[in-house]
Amino acid sequence: MATKEFKRAARIILVGAPGVGKGTQAERLMKRFPQLSALSSGDLLRNAVRNKTPLGLEAESHMKAGSLVPDDMILRLILTELKAKSWVPSSTSLSDASQTLPSDAPSASFILDGFPRTSIQARKLDALIPINLVVSLVTPVNIILGRIANRWVHAPSGRVYNTGFNKPKVEGKDDVTGEPLTKREDDGEETWRVRLKKFQETSEPLLEHYEKKGVLWRVEGNSSDEISPKLFGEFEKRFC
Ligand code: AP5
Ligand code: MG
Repeated sequence: MATKEFKRAARIILVGAPGVGKGTQAERLMKRFPQLSALSSGDLLRNAVRNKTPLGLEAESHMKAGSLVPDDMILRLILTELKAKSWVPSSTSLSDASQTLPSDAPSASFILDGFPRTSIQARKLDALIPINLVVSLVTPVNIILGRIANRWVHAPSGRVYNTGFNKPKVEGKDDVTGEPLTKREDDGEETWRVRLKKFQETSEPLLEHYEKKGVLWRVEGNSSDEISPKLFGEFEKRFC
């Protein structure tokens, strides 16, 4: 399929319960629109944990317990990554980020998966990069729970598989590198329920924040296959 030109930069956030398919939809959007890139806060944190960085060591217990890592920690991590990708100027600091939107918004098009998650994080991000579409993904909780047990991941890249729906070509192996797939440490049912509760507490003020800005779009479906075509359609309407 030919690459479609964007008429303006797409700066998108995916918001949804743990396991709703944020990572899955981000991968599909990038396949459909190759000029998009994606950043997952969960993948960044898991890399930091695996590499035993000071931040990773601090974040690990929060993640294992299913709670959110502190706002200042995730903000530091994200800002470093935004600078590395040149999506914000290298001189940007969190303390001098004001409430005025930057006039030199980046021309890059990207998806943020899992960040921001609290209204504090959202306000900080507003001052760094103006987001122009917030996708709220909604799927019934009982359906999501069934999927988590079947989820396998390629930890170094964050690629996600599911033995029931999106099988790897070779059992237990990543399609691209052939490396082994693993389970996420926070995917037990009990921890997932804690993550879900946390999501329910924090998402309402977060979504309200973006609703007021007029950039919120909600999409509902029982499966990612139901959601993807709607998401592609909305994306094309807004950016192509
Ligand atoms: P994070 O990694 O962001 O986890 P999450 O939000 O809990 O979401 P998941 O990654 O579990 O799910 P997903 O929506 O990406 O679903 P997926 O596509 O994999 O965060 C982890 C932790 O990091 C947090 O708990 C927190 O501690 C910390 N953290 C991260 N960001 C933070 C922040 N901003 N502030 C503070 N702390 C932060 O899909 C799920 C499964 O379903 C897969 O197996 C998939 O293949 C399958 N699937 C998808 N579609 C279908 C379908 N149609 N049918 C069947 N199966 C399907
Ligand atoms: Mg994910």
